[in-house]
Amino acid sequence: MSSRGSFASKFGVLMATVGSAVGLGNIWRFPYQMANNGGAAFLLIYVVCVFLVGVPAMMAEFVIGRQTHKNAVGAFNQLAPNKAWRGLGYLGVFTGFVIDSYYCVVTGWTVYYLYLAVSGSLLGNSVEGYDELFSTFAAGEVAPIVTIIIVVMITSGILVMGVRNGIEKVSKLLMPMLFMLLIILAINSCCMSGAVEGLKYVFVPNFSQIGFDSFVGAAGQAFFSLSIGMGALITYSSYFGNDVNLTRTATQIAVIDMLVAIIAGIIIFPAVFTFGVTPEQGPGLVLKVFPVVFTRMSAGYIWSVLFYLLLFIAALTSFLSITEVVVAYMAENFKLKRWVAASMVGVMFIILGACASLSFGPLKSYTIGGLIIFDMLDYLASNILLPIGGMLTSLFVGWRLDQKIVASQLKVESPSQYKFFKVYIIFLRFIVPLAVGIVFITQFFS
Ligand code: PHE
Repeated sequence: MSSRGSFASKFGVLMATVGSAVGLGNIWRFPYQMANNGGAAFLLIYVVCVFLVGVPAMMAEFVIGRQTHKNAVGAFNQLAPNKAWRGLGYLGVFTGFVIDSYYCVVTGWTVYYLYLAVSGSLLGNSVEGYDELFSTFAAGEVAPIVTIIIVVMITSGILVMGVRNGIEKVSKLLMPMLFMLLIILAINSCCMSGAVEGLKYVFVPNFSQIGFDSFVGAAGQAFFSLSIGMGALITYSSYFGNDVNLTRTATQIAVIDMLVAIIAGIIIFPAVFTFGVTPEQGPGLVLKVFPVVFTRMSAGYIWSVLFYLLLFIAALTSFLSITEVVVAYMAENFKLKRWVAASMVGVMFIILGACASLSFGPLKSYTIGGLIIFDMLDYLASNILLPIGGMLTSLFVGWRLDQKIVASQLKVESPSQYKFFKVYIIFLRFIVPLAVGIVFITQFFS
């Protein structure tokens, strides 16, 4: 372990891992999922999914990572030599490729919107104008790819600096900033005239809009938002020190991640109701609708800069963790220097990201099952690869891994902890796989 990096402090561990979890999933994806699935009722189902499935699955990844101190592929190679389970590590790296190639596109969009906001050219348009602005930009051949290159260069630069000086330092700086921005923006939204209506939307459930789709959406959202199922948490926890309490860390991350999603709702829905735009807007909610809100808001310039800065920070720290899965694998398995691995991975992601981005424009006609490349990658990752990865990892830790290893990683010492441990194993063996399996299979029939 000595030649590998490790996090220096528990605070660093928490900030880096929260940095991975809190991302576009919370601020971009959660609000529109909520809007499309009946508001607060969706939130309720989501909370259940996070604790029933998310926390146990996170802990399973932590056990694997800290036990082996290896990247996702190395970890499964060590724990299940010559067994098919080894494939899970490769599945993680593959999923990393899939997610990164469209995540860098959306992170690029946040760079562009931050640029527009800072330069003062974002405000002053109409609803139709913003729709047009987004569609024209996303379909472009040059600007979106330039933003992808910027994002990849920043990310590779941070990763080259290593775990302690790169990932940890950046997370310790940016995450507190992100929390402050969230609170400032939420207070601002709560002072708006539509605050009561917006808050009702977030907190008072309307079960009439809940369907089976809402359960599928909530489970998929929990996996995506908690970074489960692709080895990101295995890789990060391989840098954890032995003094980190895995159960507590998983619970803290789940709670913080959920709070951030809720605060994102508190920021967005009061504004949506105050300025009379409809919440059911799909993925364009924060890019097409929100600029209208800022245009109509007093001091909209400041608020728009803060909001898109928030979105960019959230996206960047998550993008870091997905990329680190691939960089750690390349560096360790092919014995490459980190800067060589990070540069190679960077070039690959620019190419893949460009393909995903061009699917809004010149590559629009290349579709699979009616989906353009970008949508296909999102569907493949969130609805197929992450649930399969998360489910198999839980099965692996529940059934295959020596329980002594699991117990020692979770520091099971007293009889009451042992009782908790037994319940945890039942979750891994039955509840997580069953819940994910049911949701996974039924989505293809609904
Ligand atoms: N959790 C991140 C988000 O909410 C996305 C992510 C998925 C990061 C999988 C790492 C692994 O945006």
